[in-house]
Amino acid sequence: MKDFIDPFGRSITYLRISLTDRCNLRCVYCMPKEGLQWQPRAEQLSVDEILRVVETASRWGVKRVRLTGGEPLVHPHIVEIAHRIADIPSIEEVSLTTNAMLLERLAQPLADSGLKRVNISLDTLDREKFIRITRGGDIDRVWRGIAAAERAHLAPIKLNTVIVRGLNDDELPTLARLTIKNDWHIRFIELMPIGNSQDWGDGFPTPSERYVSTQEMHAQLSAFDMQPAQTVIGNGPSRTFRIPGASGTVGFISPLGEHFCETCNRLRLTADGKLRPCLDNSNEISLREAVRSGQSLDDYYRQAVLSKPQHHKMLAYMPACSQRSMSQIGG
Ligand code: 5AD
Ligand code: SF4
Repeated sequence: MKDFIDPFGRSITYLRISLTDRCNLRCVYCMPKEGLQWQPRAEQLSVDEILRVVETASRWGVKRVRLTGGEPLVHPHIVEIAHRIADIPSIEEVSLTTNAMLLERLAQPLADSGLKRVNISLDTLDREKFIRITRGGDIDRVWRGIAAAERAHLAPIKLNTVIVRGLNDDELPTLARLTIKNDWHIRFIELMPIGNSQDWGDGFPTPSERYVSTQEMHAQLSAFDMQPAQTVIGNGPSRTFRIPGASGTVGFISPLGEHFCETCNRLRLTADGKLRPCLDNSNEISLREAVRSGQSLDDYYRQAVLSKPQHHKMLAYMPACSQRSMSQIGG
């Protein structure tokens, strides 16, 4: 194996790293109210260990790295991590997925460190609903975070919106309209049966009501007469459209749909040092001990790439759930 090519001919050039399983919010679809049992810090990779893992991947052809969590901005060394990864010569792009609570202060230092782009999670435009969904978040901080990201040229700005029936599906048109004046790229994401898919309590929709397919989302936006658009840089699995004349685009991500896996180019690394070949697969390969004892990581990567399944099996367990929540896998 020279570069990472999996048994289905997919070339693995993208590594998503969960820097921490901790988060400063508790979004209903991601975590229970009281949070999760956090991994002990001693089990999480140190900055030097993360760097060794990324350097090995970069020698095998990984060119793009995304930092996720939990919430990556709660990691005390986030700027140093971004900087050191961006400094690896063959790494072309470092990006980050965040809830933006801490972005206002960090956008410029991150841009200075070499970070290229941010994806920001935003599920509603309603202040009160934002508090309910995130269980305590402040939407004004998100807006200030987005403004700071724009000033720091962390562009193009992508917004991630998970659509849940009975919660925010009525906001699809309002959210899509954000892309008319702003060069923002909103992506509507199907709710995935990962982690917390039991009852959310507090009057939230029940598990059987919540799922909305991307086809249905698209149909709800038919009045905009959206046209297929050129995919935006680093577009991943989204299908992209544009409202005629709009600055930004509207994308749909359907993890349960057919095309998601065909073009999958990624491996995931969990905060406690496990390679995850597939989002849904509970097959994890721990390289923590190897990295701590200074062993070569090549065999671990080889095993992870060769065990990438052709498809995830998430449809099979709708509406049940996998063991780890998104914040533990690294959304
Ligand atoms: N289904 C879909 N998206 C999810 N995310 C977290 N949990 C889920 C889920 N069950 C998303 C967040 C964030 C990204 C990191 O993952 O909204 O945008
Ligand atoms: Fe935190 Fe993101 Fe999970 Fe919300 S979805 S609780 S912001 S990790």
